Amino acid sequence: MDMTIATSRVHSEENSSLEVLNPYESNKLLNEYLLFHYGTAEEVLPHAQGPKEALDYPVRCVRECLDVASIPAGGRALDLGCAVGRATFELARHCVEVLGIDYSHRFVAAAEHIRREGGMAYERVDEGNLTTPLSAQRPAGVDGGRLRFEQGDAMALRRDLGRFEVVLMANLIDRLQHPGRCLERLPDLVQPNGVLVITSPYTWLEAFTSQSEWLGGFQVEGRSQNTLEGLRSRLEPAFTLERTLELPFLIREHARKYQWSVAQASVWRRLG
Ligand SMILES: C[S@@+](CC[C@H](N)C(=O)[O-])C[C@H]1O[C@@H](n2cnc3c(N)ncnc32)[C@H](O)[C@@H]1O
Repeated sequence: MDMTIATSRVHSEENSSLEVLNPYESNKLLNEYLLFHYGTAEEVLPHAQGPKEALDYPVRCVRECLDVASIPAGGRALDLGCAVGRATFELARHCVEVLGIDYSHRFVAAAEHIRREGGMAYERVDEGNLTTPLSAQRPAGVDGGRLRFEQGDAMALRRDLGRFEVVLMANLIDRLQHPGRCLERLPDLVQPNGVLVITSPYTWLEAFTSQSEWLGGFQVEGRSQNTLEGLRSRLEPAFTLERTLELPFLIREHARKYQWSVAQASVWRRLG
């Protein structure tokens, strides 16, 4: 797929074969994620009721999970499964070099468009075919020269990425076919004393991950294993778990339908 976006607006068009194979290549999810990452409170949730604390999830993944003061000067960050890039921009406030990698060509092209052009037009679905035109704006005060976006596979990353002081994996782990393959690479990617943040609502689905590959959410010898235990058994002893926190988030489907989820964030320190 062409990595440049011909127009800045996301048009409704026939599903391409890529979209059928990967929902993250579809117009629907591109529009939803642009709103999820860049929408203002009023654009996402213009109702008097609703969980306002669940807004700005990509921003909170960085602000609430990282002790930004402890990131060394000159630090590098990796946002794995960056989607349309909002958390990548937020990481660039604290790190001089930030790489966002995502498997979706369209998401990466959108993130790069916002970085380069300063914004991107998209459509918010309100009801049926009724939509509102909106613009995803590059976050103010971020030096776009610090960021790069590239298409890549978190289960087969290129060997020459180098090491990072911060690695963020937000809502990625339960969308991978082989999550273990991604976790295996992490000790090599995170600098000694560096930080790894994994957030996820642990929505394990056979459509993305066959049950034999799930990290948790099943019984072993009559005992329930949750995903945090599965992460721990794969990440220790290269990493030690520092803390966990609860991160609610809200994805708007249309004016009267939202997905409200609560991710668990786990913050891990690379031992060296
Ligand atoms: C649920 S979304 C989360 C995106 C973003 N981190 C967030 O918190 O909004 C999952 C993302 O993982 C990406 N993804 C799925 N499989 C991937 C893979 N093998 N390698 C890299 N990214 C992948 C999808 O394209 C999508 O952008």
